[in-house]
Amino acid sequence: MKSLIIYASRHHGNTEKLVRNLASRYDITLVNADKVDDIDFDGYDLIGFASGLDFGRFYPSVTDIAAKLPAGKAVYAVYTCARDNAAYGSQIEEIALSNGCRYLGKFGCKGYNTYGPLRLIGGMNKRHPDVNDLENLCTFYQSVLDAK
Ligand SMILES: Cc1cc2nc3c(=O)[nH]c(=O)nc-3n(C[C@H](O)[C@H](O)[C@H](O)COP(=O)(O)O)c2cc1C
Repeated sequence: MKSLIIYASRHHGNTEKLVRNLASRYDITLVNADKVDDIDFDGYDLIGFASGLDFGRFYPSVTDIAAKLPAGKAVYAVYTCARDNAAYGSQIEEIALSNGCRYLGKFGCKGYNTYGPLRLIGGMNKRHPDVNDLENLCTFYQSVLDAK
């Protein structure tokens, strides 16, 4: 079973911190969507799409690659955000299902954010993702592997 995560992490590297930790503990290939033009999904059975939230949406470099998903893959979403919202990640679910893939769920956690007026007082979620967030993502990923 080959596992791939396509990610982008533009604000503070929050999402990158999460997925790098996961990839140090599991056999996962990481690809930064902002550094490639295209992806060859061939041979990968399990594909995660990971992003910071940008006005309610995943970074376009991630969703542009997701839109090219071939049918038959198992797919999940990972994100970091300022304040969680039930709708976050649903873009990936919609793309996965409309491309004939199986959607295995999503994991989201807080990420350090200095956008908006809160930057004047040092931003919010300063220590996130933290150790608990990293552990929670591992638990989620294990459940994805079990469902696969
Ligand atoms: C321009 C901008 C827009 C953002 N929009 C949202 C948003 O809609 N919802 C949210 O919860 N967080 C939002 N955030 C906070 C980021 O999603 C959060 O800091 C995230 O962890 C950034 O991830 P990254 O460092 O991997 O890019 C926004 C941040 C910026 C800079």
